[in-house]
Amino acid sequence: MIQTVNYNTGQPPLAAGLPFLGNGLEMAGNIQMFFVKYYNQLGPIYRVKALQQRFVIFAGLEANQFLWKSGHDYLSNENTMGSLSDEFGMMVHVLEGEPHSHLRKLLGAALSPEVLTSQWERFIHLTQQHIATWPVGQTLPVVPYFQSLAAEQLAVMLGNQSSVDHFEQLRYVFELALDVRLARKWPMAFLRLPAYQKRKAEIFAFMRDIMAAHRTTTRATPDLVDVALNAVDAHGKPYSEEEQIGMILQGYFGAINTTAYMCSFMLYALFRHPEIMAQVVDEVRQVFSGGMPTPQQLRKLSSLHALAQESLRMYDPAPGSVRTVSKAFDFCGYHIEAGTPAIFAFSVTHYLPEFFPDPYTFSISRDNYLENQRIGAYRPFSLGVHTCLGAGFAEVQAMTIMAVLLQQVGFAEIPPALDKVKIVAAPGLHPNRHLKMKLV
Ligand code: HEM
Repeated sequence: MIQTVNYNTGQPPLAAGLPFLGNGLEMAGNIQMFFVKYYNQLGPIYRVKALQQRFVIFAGLEANQFLWKSGHDYLSNENTMGSLSDEFGMMVHVLEGEPHSHLRKLLGAALSPEVLTSQWERFIHLTQQHIATWPVGQTLPVVPYFQSLAAEQLAVMLGNQSSVDHFEQLRYVFELALDVRLARKWPMAFLRLPAYQKRKAEIFAFMRDIMAAHRTTTRATPDLVDVALNAVDAHGKPYSEEEQIGMILQGYFGAINTTAYMCSFMLYALFRHPEIMAQVVDEVRQVFSGGMPTPQQLRKLSSLHALAQESLRMYDPAPGSVRTVSKAFDFCGYHIEAGTPAIFAFSVTHYLPEFFPDPYTFSISRDNYLENQRIGAYRPFSLGVHTCLGAGFAEVQAMTIMAVLLQQVGFAEIPPALDKVKIVAAPGLHPNRHLKMKLV
């Protein structure tokens, strides 16, 4: 039953949790399902506790539409996504108003899917060559292999430089920084540890090397590094070196922490549904049988596309937007004060039967993504002014990775440990280390 007003305290209802830990453990697991479970129990607004942290959760269509249409007037990223700006100079997450739209425009051009489709052969060859290095006959952990491939694609396509030698540092630093600064699983002291500081310094040195190489060379079409080096802010002032590095790192961050998770979920779904695996493999191999498919042909792979959409529906790598309320507002009978930490769990609508009938079933036969997207009920990349800038890029990237993979390799068997796979949040949602693959 949906409870909208708690007359005793005037506060939204509190999700039941453990002493001290509160909802921390559950939120470190499949946080998307956690949000859905408490939406069904408590309604579109409720409170959660995770260790020392408190959040008000907003979920359902009304919440999505609020984030979309009014978020910029009432919500701020300063204390949440702002940590990415402090840590890596990724300013776009935290800026607001004109400086934000100015930087989004600059980055938007450099992160558009055309960056991939305009250098299509290079992109496909890079993907094929990278996958060809994956060992055959061994049991491999899925997530890190996709992370390394997605990071390499980003590094070459957006910065003209391989990242293979720096991948481990990038992964370690992003994951620890997210755990500490966004999920707040560990104290800030963890980011002062020599192991973290050393790797972070190596990444910044790697970025400076890439920038130096770009200063002495030119490209027919400027890439992300060229854009970062030449960009000026809304007042015509060049960005600082730290901000330029933040713009470049933005791409790596998207690849390692989200696109790779999306591909891992697509493969997970294929392992769980052998009939869908057969259908998608058949479709992919047919289109490759005539040589390298064009971007237009790739887009027309309807089963693969449906697999991508359904994976994003059921397993959204970034299922909520974390904000602080900057101006008080009323929502579903509650008055929400400025300063309240909030999470907009925008992917809860993905599991509501009024939008997706039989929502717990993975199906590639649904035909209402677009209709739900229009009203704000299917938005795996969030909504509003800070919605993902790399959504189109990520979709082409993930579809290409999966098409090349399924064309190029076979899988020895459905992994025996599939039942042990758990979905975890760190804080991006992904299948845990039990998701393995064996290539033939
Ligand atoms: C499946 C893959 C991806 C998912 C699910 C995803 C999801 C998201 C989400 C939910 C946000 C909003 C965060 C917030 O609440 O403020 C976001 C922001 C952003 N994403 Fe992605 N992302 C993906 C891939 C990428 C990639 C590959 C790139 C870059 C090439 C990218 C670039 C960005 C940027 C620049 C922002 C900040 C936008 C702003 O604050 O104005 N994303 N992403």
